[in-house]
Amino acid sequence: MQHRVAAIGGDGIGPEIIAAGREVVDAAGERYGFDIAWEEFDIGAERYLATGELLTEEDLGDLSKFSAIYFGAIGDDRVKPGILEKGILLAIRFHFDQFINLRPIRLLDGVATPLANKRPEDIDFVVVRENTEDFYVGIGSRFAGKREEKTLEIVRDIYSVKFGLDVETDAEELAYQIGVVTRAGAERAIRYAFDLAVRREKKVTSVDKANVLSDIYGLWRDVFTDVAAGYPDIATEFNFVDAVTMWFVKNPEWFDVVVTPNMFGDIITDLGAMIQGGLGLAPGGNINPKGTSMFEPIHGSAPKYRGQNVANPLATVWAGSMLLDHLGEHEAAATVLRAIERSILDGYVTRDMGGAQKTSEVGEYIASLVKTV
Ligand code: IPM
Ligand code: MN
Repeated sequence: MQHRVAAIGGDGIGPEIIAAGREVVDAAGERYGFDIAWEEFDIGAERYLATGELLTEEDLGDLSKFSAIYFGAIGDDRVKPGILEKGILLAIRFHFDQFINLRPIRLLDGVATPLANKRPEDIDFVVVRENTEDFYVGIGSRFAGKREEKTLEIVRDIYSVKFGLDVETDAEELAYQIGVVTRAGAERAIRYAFDLAVRREKKVTSVDKANVLSDIYGLWRDVFTDVAAGYPDIATEFNFVDAVTMWFVKNPEWFDVVVTPNMFGDIITDLGAMIQGGLGLAPGGNINPKGTSMFEPIHGSAPKYRGQNVANPLATVWAGSMLLDHLGEHEAAATVLRAIERSILDGYVTRDMGGAQKTSEVGEYIASLVKTV
């Protein structure tokens, strides 16, 4: 059996952590009798600086032939913030309509959490972050002047929206950004969360800010309530995003599946990463169940560590486990996670986790563990 997977190392520490992750995924293939045919893409800051290209039509056409992309990290100190993030990472998420950003928050055995009184069984939930809407749609402008007319468009597989905006102001300078939630967009994310909860502890928490941003998150809540009606065995609750940051720290054991619009999902999963032991341990999957999905660590590219072979590859290796799950290699996926846990218990970790190992050494070690654990 062969799976074809696209690999994008990207910027900063991206290429090193992806190399470690690939080694582990390949080792899982050897054990479970499949082979990964990797195809590398040089998308990222280096190519952008050399050619001015972020993501070409050719890239998109080529990537569309894969059901999975393994992605390192994006962001480079030589490029203004936002260019690579929007032009590459978000562009891939949107183009392939990867409407779910799945982020497990789970404290592995042997990992230190800053929550002194919590144990692995207390920290085990999943955040389902809607991944195509909200304040991420890129509808906004900034201008200094009395008037601006602008047409802004959102094109998704399931709908498109056009805003014709005619803004008049006596403010000296002004910027605005519009968040968008649609019934269909919210529904597919919320339904995914409920389907996940059916296979877990049967509880879904909606995180929003419907008390202030009552149009977009009011619609979100209505859709949540409508979807929930179809799942009578699933317990539900609403949390405001400010309060949930407190509950994540105080009572993480309350959560099972958390579903949330895009921007709050971005924010609360960095907090989630910290309670599960740090950004070095937090993976994510950008999922289109019927299309091209992409698996990546949720941390950034840490440009200052580029080429030093010191970055923690565990988030990326874990993302590799999620990628294997997505390819239907469930046993291999579970084995990779067990091997990660084993390497931590053995103390074979990078310096951010108190160890002395290099990125590539951790990759090699976990790859060897995958054959036996
Ligand atoms: C993440 C990142 C991205 C996001 C950035 C790099 C665009 O922070 O994956 O969480 O905001 O989604
Ligand atoms: Mn983020």
